[in-house]
This record gives sequence, structure tokens and C-alpha cells, in this order.
Amino acid sequence: MEKNYSVHILHISAEAYPVAKVGGLADVAGALPKYLNIEGHDAKLVLPMHRTRYLNTHEWEVVHKGVTNMGDHYFEYTVIRESSGTLGYELYLVDIFGLLDREGIYGYEDDAYRFLAFQLSVVDWMSNWSYRPDVVHVHDHHTALIPFILQYCYRYGHLQKIPTILTIHNAQYQGWMNWNMATLLPPYDLWKRGMLEWEGQINPLACGIKCASRVTTVSWSYLEELKYNSNGLESLIQQEIAKCSGVLNGIDAMVWNPASDQYLKQSYNADKVTEGKAAAKRELCDVFGLDSNKPLFIFIGRLVADKAADLLPSIVGESFYHLGRKMSFLFLGSGDPQIEAQLNAMNVYAEQDYSCYIGYNEGLSHQLYAGADFLLMPSRVEPCGLNQMYALRYGTVPLVRKTGGLKDTIKDQGEEGGYGFLFEHASVPDVIHAISRALELYEDKDALHRCRKQMMNLDFSWQHSVRNYLYLYHSVQKS
Ligand code: ADP
Ligand code: GLC
Repeated sequence: MEKNYSVHILHISAEAYPVAKVGGLADVAGALPKYLNIEGHDAKLVLPMHRTRYLNTHEWEVVHKGVTNMGDHYFEYTVIRESSGTLGYELYLVDIFGLLDREGIYGYEDDAYRFLAFQLSVVDWMSNWSYRPDVVHVHDHHTALIPFILQYCYRYGHLQKIPTILTIHNAQYQGWMNWNMATLLPPYDLWKRGMLEWEGQINPLACGIKCASRVTTVSWSYLEELKYNSNGLESLIQQEIAKCSGVLNGIDAMVWNPASDQYLKQSYNADKVTEGKAAAKRELCDVFGLDSNKPLFIFIGRLVADKAADLLPSIVGESFYHLGRKMSFLFLGSGDPQIEAQLNAMNVYAEQDYSCYIGYNEGLSHQLYAGADFLLMPSRVEPCGLNQMYALRYGTVPLVRKTGGLKDTIKDQGEEGGYGFLFEHASVPDVIHAISRALELYEDKDALHRCRKQMMNLDFSWQHSVRNYLYLYHSVQKS
């Protein structure tokens, strides 16, 4: 590692656990600042003030009130800071009346407008703040215009030299905006107009890739894939490859730990994995009316095509047909209403071998990782994936498609020292084949026990990744 001085990092994200969570971005944004601080650095986090439960159950103080504008529209914003400091980093929330004061994080028609207002408020606040970060670290398209705003909006010229890092958690979503929204930005160097543009639109993610000092993706393989498959950004990634690198996500081992998990009735560690998992499984099967003597396969996640959630109904049906009703399935997720309806409908015919919970339930997800034998992740796109790493930590064998971060974290059972099952295609036959291999492992109790212990002893904690980010933070300060 580089010289050991303390770096001041300002993280800016749309979501972070435990404040507001939709998916893995929240887990990362909520944990990375904590682990940077544990290493002796000073990382802070800024989020929009979504109206989540966390907001109402914690103490806050107002630290700034400001006024800024999007074109002719002047608006007030308020910044509050969490008072207790229990998260392990300073957390700031930005409120904008009528735009950020909503229960949901995404999915509104005016999302582009909302996140632009958020970004402009954050930069405006930064320009009035006595604190100057050494690095600004933004995450995904919701905050990816900040490197442009800092560098090219005349109003913020005094912030121009602050280096920026953009982490791409998922390039499928780019935050496209109509060109007429360019008038909402504060006056900027018009020669740099091209920085905003990709294929005739304002493309915040592309803009971030062009303007940030460095760009990271959340696994090495995902960066390789983006060169050839990145929802239209392929040539840009190739062009900017010199400043891109892959930094694999870690997992927050304090939150995801079966030995101390507040959501489990009975805790367990690697030595007690058989008893611990059996108890968690019984509990789960009782609640969902499943037969706990059969191997339990779970899926947890957003019910969208990228996760190949559309295959789930056929996976259940075809498994029963080809392999017999030797296993049970339990799915937790929400997303595409059509997939939700199909999963709900299957409850009728699958009796004790299938159940699902449609919705978001953090506690239940922990109970599933603990109580399941196997985790299914047939993802079409998986930039990193955290579920498979949580599964490993809870002794649950992952069955994953060989893509992105799944490829970088899971080693097939068939290889020396392997754990888990890898398959090539997001297709029902490939998944069924992996399930049949998993059933064989399940029958061999010694091998299963060894595998569980081995997985639980793997280390995917944040410490490694933090070192990689620090290397980047140091390098951009020098350049
Ligand atoms: P992504 O960010 O693409 O959704 P990840 O694997 O990185 O995928 O992270 C997903 C995170 O969201 C994990 O913490 C997972 O446990 C959680 N999660 C997803 N869906 C649900 C749900 N319905 N209920 C509870 N947790 C969920
Ligand atoms: C994204 C990706 C997921 C990744 C997460 C955290 O949502 O889809 O693969 O684990 O971000 O980086």
C-alpha cells in the first residue's frame, strides 16, 4: 500500500443500508465508508432523504440550509446529519421538498429530475462547506454527473481540483435524459458539452465515465464484459479502459454473520454448521409449510430479467418433472408484476415443495441464507453479486451462472478446492443440471459438511477491497 496518511473521502449514493435499501448498491455504500474509517481514514456518506423507517427512528441535526437552481427553478434544500454516529461514519441526508421526500427510492417518472436536483444540491452544499474531501466517490448513474458539475460548471470552479472516482455497480441503468435537461445545469463550459452526450442523449453514466478521474467496476470479470456488452457503452469503455479497474465488493461481516445474526433464533459458526442450519431450516419450513427433510433451494433478489427471474417458474416445474419432487424451493423477491404473479400462482400446485414471499424483507433474507441448503443465481448480468457471498458465509452452497462477479467469487466443486456450482448459460437445462449435481452433494453428508465448513471459512470481508480503493484514492491525489 501507499503512504499511510489519512484520506478524506466523500461518498455520494442514492441508497445505503440500513438507511434506504433496494439492492446491493445499498449494502456497498453502507459498508465501504465504515471499513475505510476502521482503517483510520475519514469517509462520510451523503444520501437523498428518502422517507424510510430509519429516518423516523434516529436523531438528526440540521447542518445546512441552502438555495440553488435548475434553470429558472430555484429551490431550497436542507442537509441533516445523523447525531448518534453509530454507523461508523458521518451520514448526511439531503432533503428537497416535493422531490426527495418520498417513501420509494426509485421508480418515479421524474427520477432524472429528482437525482439531478440531488446532485446539484450536494455540490452546492460542498461549495459552502468548510470541509474539503481529498476525493469524491460517486456510485452509479444517480450521482455520476457530479464529476462533470465539479469540473465544468463555472460556479463551482473552486472545487474543480477535487479528484473523483465513479464506481459502476450496474451499467444496464444509465439515467438517460433528454437534451432539453441540459438547460437545468448551472452555466458550464460549452466546449465540454460533448462530455454529457452519448448517442444523442445526456447519458449520466457515460458522462461519469468520461469525467471521473478513475472508474471502477465491482468485479474484474464485469469490467472485461463491459468492453463487449455494456448496453451501448462498449466503445466508451474501450476508449477509457486505462482509467478503469475492477475492485471486487466485500461483505459486511459484522452484519452478515450467522454467529451473531439478530434475525436468527439460533446462532451458529462453522463448527456448528450442521445443527445451526438444520434448526434454521426447520424454522423456515414450518413458516412456509415446506418439508424440511428435502434439500431447500432458494432465490433472493429483484424479480427482473437481469437476474433471470423469469426462468424461476420453469426451473421449479422442470426440476420436479425431470428430477422428481426430491427438493423444495423458496423464493423471496419483488419486481416485474408478471413474474410476481407467476410465482404466486405456483403456490397452488406445488404443495409442500414450493413457496414464495413476494416483497422486500431484510430479516427474512437472513433467515433464508441460514436455513437453505442451496442458493440459485442464474443471473444474465451480475456485476458483482452479494447474495452468493452471503450464502457462503452462512454455509449455503451457491449455484451460479459463470458471469461477472459470480465467476470471480465461486469456484466449481469439480475443481481442486472448489465450492459451489457454476454453469454457462442462463437457461433452464443448465440450471437443472446444476441442481442435479447439488442433489448428489446433498446425498453425501460428509462432502456437504466439508463444503459448508470450507465456505464459511472463506474471507470476502471488506478489508481487501478497502486496500484497493485506498490505492486508487492515493493515486488520484498525486495525478
Ligand atoms: P442487486 O444489487 O443487483 O440487486 P446484489 O446481489 O448485489 O444484487 O444484492 C442484492 C441485495 O439485496 C442483497 O443484500 C439481498 O439479500 C437483498 N435483497 C434482494 N431482494 C430482496 C428482498 N426481496 N428482500 C430482502 N432482501 C433482498
Ligand atoms: C448492482 C449489481 C450487483 C452488485 C451491486 C453492488 O446492483 O447488480 O451485482 O453486487 O450493485 O455493487
